[in-house]
Amino acid sequence: RKGCKLVGCGSALPSLSVSNDDLSKIVDTSDEWISVRTGIRNRRVISGKESLKKLAVEAAQKALEMADFDPNDLDLILMCTSTPEDIFGSAPQIQRELGCRNSPLAYDITAACSGFVLGLISAASHIRGGGFHNVLVIGADGLSRFVDWTDRGTCILFGDAAGAVLVQACDAEEDGLLSFDLHSDGEGGRHLGAPINDNETDELLGSNGSALDFPPKKSSYSCIQMNGKEVFRFAVRCVPQSIESALEKAGLVSGNVDWLLLHQANQRIIDAVATRLDFPQEKVISNLANYGNTSAASIPLALDEAVRSGKVKPGHTIAAAGFGAGLTWGSAIIRW
Ligand code: ACO
Repeated sequence: RKGCKLVGCGSALPSLSVSNDDLSKIVDTSDEWISVRTGIRNRRVISGKESLKKLAVEAAQKALEMADFDPNDLDLILMCTSTPEDIFGSAPQIQRELGCRNSPLAYDITAACSGFVLGLISAASHIRGGGFHNVLVIGADGLSRFVDWTDRGTCILFGDAAGAVLVQACDAEEDGLLSFDLHSDGEGGRHLGAPINDNETDELLGSNGSALDFPPKKSSYSCIQMNGKEVFRFAVRCVPQSIESALEKAGLVSGNVDWLLLHQANQRIIDAVATRLDFPQEKVISNLANYGNTSAASIPLALDEAVRSGKVKPGHTIAAAGFGAGLTWGSAIIRW
């Protein structure tokens, strides 16, 4: 089969930093509670003239620069986000901002905190079976815009960011995406969501399903609603199984893998998964303390920091896993 490899990465963060102490001024919480239960100390929040699109473009440009790659040679851009600034998707806008003159295909993928892993696997599938050669995968989310800042159970968790990787076709021997494992569970989806407001859907359909109020009102989405304990249990149960399955498909065991890179949601989840899979602490990548849960951005953001700091070196193997709303979860075994 055709190979595909990751040849560049980049990331971008909003400038406004919000500490746990800052949050304790707006909700009944403390630095101690948040850091002990989650490992988070700071998060970045989009403000002023910043936008998710600008962050995504900045992250993408850095990934292209690292690979010394001309945006005109891209043939696909995948924007993994659950918080686009346009409900019709934002990938074509990013394509325009990057100045791609060849009109590469660009579309959004919505899979919450699993979005980046899904984007990576989609990029590989497009390369292996679809005749694409150079695919930019962006993971970017601005969940701060969908958080209820009066709900201490959720507002402490999330931050905004963007990360990107360039995935390129290569010979089979150089393959950098060794295996994957992807799942979803709509039944468990009730534990985490930001659905369209119910009353508006009811008004639109009426009790017997016929349109009563026409024209319908402008829709809005509710803030993030989460049953934290259930999401925690789901992650600790499903993520190790998924990584084990991906490792088995790649013919590897955790001892052969250089790094464990999980979606950055909660340090206790990261620690529990690492313990279950026998990864020692020094092989676990974590930057959660600085940025909180940045959803689809968390894996490429942490990867980019680890690559630029020299932790992750060419030839290293990474077991990456995303998990979150949907519910969705999945793993990819990457050779950098
Ligand atoms: N500060 C102080 N007290 C708090 C806070 C806070 N920020 N939040 C909750 N509490 C209180 C609760 O009110 C409760 O008080 P009570 O005992 O008097 O009722 C107590 O602390 C315990 O609350 P729990 O919700 O049971 O706390 P828990 O130990 O489960 O931790 C947490 C909550 C951190 C949210 C945890 O469940 C978790 O991290 N779950 C996973 C969530 C997650 O990762 N979600 C993102 C998935 S990715 C995506 O797709 C977006």
